[in-house]
Amino acid sequence: MDNFTFWNTTKLIFGKGQLQQLKTEVPKYGKKVLLVYGGGSIKRNGLYDDVMALLKEIGSETFELSGVEPNPRISTVRKGVDICNSEGIDFILAVGGGSVIDCTKAIAAGAKYDGDAWDIVVKRGTVNDALPFGTVLTLAATGSEMNSGSVITNWETNEKYGWGSPHTFPKFSILDPVNTFTVPKDQTVYGIVDIMSHVFEHYFHQAEHTELQDRLCESILLTVMETAPKLVDDLENYVYRETILYSGTMALNGMVNMGFSGDWATHNIEHAVSAVYDIPHGGGLAILFPNWMKHNLQVNPARFRKLAVRVFGVNPDGKTDEEVGLEGIGKLREFWNSIGAPARLADYDIDGSKLDVMTDKAMVNGEFGNFKKLNRDDVFAIYEASL
Ligand code: NZQ
Ligand code: ZN
Repeated sequence: MDNFTFWNTTKLIFGKGQLQQLKTEVPKYGKKVLLVYGGGSIKRNGLYDDVMALLKEIGSETFELSGVEPNPRISTVRKGVDICNSEGIDFILAVGGGSVIDCTKAIAAGAKYDGDAWDIVVKRGTVNDALPFGTVLTLAATGSEMNSGSVITNWETNEKYGWGSPHTFPKFSILDPVNTFTVPKDQTVYGIVDIMSHVFEHYFHQAEHTELQDRLCESILLTVMETAPKLVDDLENYVYRETILYSGTMALNGMVNMGFSGDWATHNIEHAVSAVYDIPHGGGLAILFPNWMKHNLQVNPARFRKLAVRVFGVNPDGKTDEEVGLEGIGKLREFWNSIGAPARLADYDIDGSKLDVMTDKAMVNGEFGNFKKLNRDDVFAIYEASL
């Protein structure tokens, strides 16, 4: 293991009916609240009314920023920063999925930053402070509810980057599985793929002696793979939603990846696709991750073998590590196909015409990936294999 410091300041409030906790949590941070939400799902399923009623009950003066896009845009962040500054907002409440939460993180930091919020995203500016914010999560996927990361898109320049700061952990996050009942099947699947992909990003690292971490990662994968097929056929099942929701938080809150740096190349490769084609993050990962795996199988075949045997149930008898690893990758592809995830860029009508553009975007900061540094040829080859 590498040396590490674990630090996560988010208060996690989980379970049925926990929305009521807004009444004790929000007043700690002040009266003037900016409610941030997306394109209207919370109005259709009634959560908006419930949140507004609770805010009214505690006497909050509530302002609103609606219409946060999936793949949230810097233009929307700027609108939020303007509201915070002009109205003297004390606290931001994000109600939605990862996009709403990520946008809120950028608003919170942007409101305390003397300059344009895009500087923060491209790391030209330093975050020294942020407005306090909390979240009510409505979609299991990103883990943004209990981490300090945020991913923002600039649609004018077709750029999408992740950033984060110790100041952008949510003060609290309320996770009621019932609030995820209305997530449609396709978004549910994208979320499942994203959760599993976060674990894969952890799993492929260079450190040695990470037995506990490996088993923690494997247990999330096994649990998600056991639950996902049942959930996609029974979207309002509380127990399945609860299991996936908790898995999503655990996959990216820092708990299972202490003591090593995961790879994260596939996320970078996917963000470049979303930046150009605005596709759902989980959909892009479902296409790209098995191809990243095949491309890097030779880097450490024993690692792929371990995953294949322990998670995908591959029988290793009489086979080389490469053969076992490849069989495991095939089983991952089959599993994602079985729950309805996309398998090729063509599924989003993406052809080969912009492979160079996407590769340039992915390479903007040079070679990347902690399991194996990818160069331009590697990235191009992974895109090409994904067509
Ligand atoms: O906008 P609304 O109307 O709310 O609809 C959303 C949106 O259309 C809908 N939705 C959310 N909750 C719902 C619901 N529909 C019905 N019922 C509900 N309860 O789902 C759609 C997708 O929402 P979005 O928030 O975009 O999805 P997700 O949570 O997957 O977030 C994706 C974004 O997070 C970034 C991705 O790159 C992408 O931009 N990521 C953030 C990370 C982080 N902060 O740690 C890590 C991830 O790897 C990821 O990169
Ligand atoms: Zn992700």
